[in-house]
Amino acid sequence: MSLWQTIGRQLRKPSGLGGHVTGGLMRLVNDKPNRLAVEALRVQPSDTVLELGFGPGHAIAMLAARAPAGFVYGVDLSPVMLEQAQKRNRHAIDAGRVLLYEAAFDRLPFDDASVDKVLAVNVIYFWHDAPAVLQEIRRVLRPGGRIVIYATDRSTMRRWKFAGPDTHRLFSATELTAVLRRGGFDGHQATVSNIRVAGGINGLFATISIPDASPGRRLPMSLDAGARTGSSRPPSAASLVRWPRWAEPPSSSDG
Ligand SMILES: C[S@@+](CC[C@H](N)C(=O)[O-])C[C@H]1O[C@@H](n2cnc3c(N)ncnc32)[C@H](O)[C@@H]1O
Repeated sequence: MSLWQTIGRQLRKPSGLGGHVTGGLMRLVNDKPNRLAVEALRVQPSDTVLELGFGPGHAIAMLAARAPAGFVYGVDLSPVMLEQAQKRNRHAIDAGRVLLYEAAFDRLPFDDASVDKVLAVNVIYFWHDAPAVLQEIRRVLRPGGRIVIYATDRSTMRRWKFAGPDTHRLFSATELTAVLRRGGFDGHQATVSNIRVAGGINGLFATISIPDASPGRRLPMSLDAGARTGSSRPPSAASLVRWPRWAEPPSSSDG
């Protein structure tokens, strides 16, 4: 395996010592797109927010600062990233305002209609079945919710040797629009725009707005209350979740 492939794999799932180094670098080089994406998400103080693929947990910290009366969830498949993100967000986790899971994009451990906003920065390259992931995001979003996806544009990514086809799927604005449509988001709900990130990097932003509920519609019960207190476990994908020690649900032998 070449060095570039090794780096590509580390970005897809940071592991071992190299994963710790990769996490530190991501914190620095992905600062700008994360800031722009968090800004575009328009987080309100009492929102429940979910980040997909939180990496070193930099955006989780920004989201928690913007939702002081809300709640921030994150999922990431990498135990090394979970460790880094938990360290970075220790205070908010201890305060019961942030909960991070080791879980996969396509099996989110949350109830239907349980979050207001979803952030996904530099992760769509790894969505093997993007429409399925988008449908899973749609499932957990409440009516009136919002999604922001950032990806570096194909025109820039194709120059980066680590972003080979064995690890990364690349997108142009047209390709991203088509994927969103296949995931059930048409032009009324989703907009895709090109942005210029620092250093001549072309970026893509997709913002998706979920229509509001019709008046009087009752929302399904959300996971929030249980997860915050650590008193219950989500009904789905439980086997994928690494529960933080303080939030571990009682085992069945505890009654
Ligand atoms: C390139 S990093 C981006 C991290 C962060 N969002 C940023 O912009 O700095 C991609 C992250 O997605 C995670 N990831 C990749 N595939 C995943 C999957 N199928 N489910 C959950 N997380 C995944 C990786 O572990 C990694 O932390």
